[in-house]
Amino acid sequence: MASLFSPLTLQSGATLKNCFMLAPLTNLQSHADGVLSDEEFRWLTLRAEGGFGHTMTCAASVQEEGVGFPGQLGCHDDKHLPGLTRLAAGIKAHGSHAVVQLHNSGMRAMQAHGSHGAGQTGSVTSARAPMCPSDNEEFGAKAMSLDEVKHARDCFVAAAQRAGKAGFDGAELHGAHGYLICQFLSAEINKREDEYGGSPENRARFLLECVDGARAATKPGFSLGVRLSPERFGIDLMEMRDLARLMMREGKIDYLDLSLWDVFKEPQEEQWRGKPLAQYFTELERGSVRLGAAGKLSTAAAVSRCLDIGFDSVIIGRGAILHHDFPERVRADANFTPAALPVSADYLHAEGLSEVFVNYMRTWKGFVAEAA
Ligand SMILES: Cc1cc2nc3c(=O)[nH]c(=O)nc-3n(C[C@H](O)[C@H](O)[C@H](O)COP(=O)(O)O)c2cc1C
Repeated sequence: MASLFSPLTLQSGATLKNCFMLAPLTNLQSHADGVLSDEEFRWLTLRAEGGFGHTMTCAASVQEEGVGFPGQLGCHDDKHLPGLTRLAAGIKAHGSHAVVQLHNSGMRAMQAHGSHGAGQTGSVTSARAPMCPSDNEEFGAKAMSLDEVKHARDCFVAAAQRAGKAGFDGAELHGAHGYLICQFLSAEINKREDEYGGSPENRARFLLECVDGARAATKPGFSLGVRLSPERFGIDLMEMRDLARLMMREGKIDYLDLSLWDVFKEPQEEQWRGKPLAQYFTELERGSVRLGAAGKLSTAAAVSRCLDIGFDSVIIGRGAILHHDFPERVRADANFTPAALPVSADYLHAEGLSEVFVNYMRTWKGFVAEAA
């Protein structure tokens, strides 16, 4: 238990007061043009107040064309700066490391459904089909030109810089869950024949150039994380392991965030079973890069076990939606278990979720109780 609450240093210089990280959680609470709302501010600052050493925003858009959700927090335009600045200050006021998750939906962009900001902001800049490393029939997405690839990369870098300008302590590149960076990594989705496709090295180029660019564009001390999915979306576990090894060996990032959905599960693919999925990563040499994981860390026992199996940090999603003060609850009770599901809408309102977020949580089966 003690190590959960020991300070965690990051190699770029920051020290987190503990190893509890709020997972990036899409909540749809921003304004239609991506400007921060009071609701999103309250939701996040309450988690910082609740004891998280590291408080991350939801996936925030780095490019208008890559917006994936209505009410998604924006980090792609200077009009977002005042809200981001307020948010960074609000999180840091509670002694929490403030981080923006940087995201481009690629082929999963809202434009695919013709709905981005429709009738609300008039701010859609392009009527082109959603972008993707290669044509994708399922999503009606069009292959990006080489210039578009470089522009998309530069948008990630510019957004990291904007986050720093707003006072955030760091940024995480969202390379998981089938969004643009993950689309580049996936051999199933990325069929490019230029330097951004083909070999694993070429498919990782987009991400690694975003890392280099973000590093160069931000001040020393700015933390940089990367989130990866080790499986699904056409992602190959062994390739992700090699990429994790490379990133940890090169030490250009502060931490790797593995989105496992269940930290203690075995790999999905038959051939890699017989050993926990996490172990493929925890056994790698990591230098001073920190390794964290998310997935069903909802009890005090689970977070302790997560450190026991070799992770440096615990990344909490639904447990933090249920309890804004999840870390403090774990500190107070070594047997802590979260509120039983489903919970009422009133319960979630009291935990700092607005109606919009509660309605979004209704789409997560069994989370919100139906009104009687
Ligand atoms: C409502 C909701 C929204 C999410 N939004 C994001 C997101 O914006 N970015 C991301 O990388 N993962 C997102 N995830 C995944 C979480 O960050 C986390 O990895 C996942 O929920 C597993 O952790 P948990 O079992 O503690 O909830 C989301 C999950 C939930 C439940």
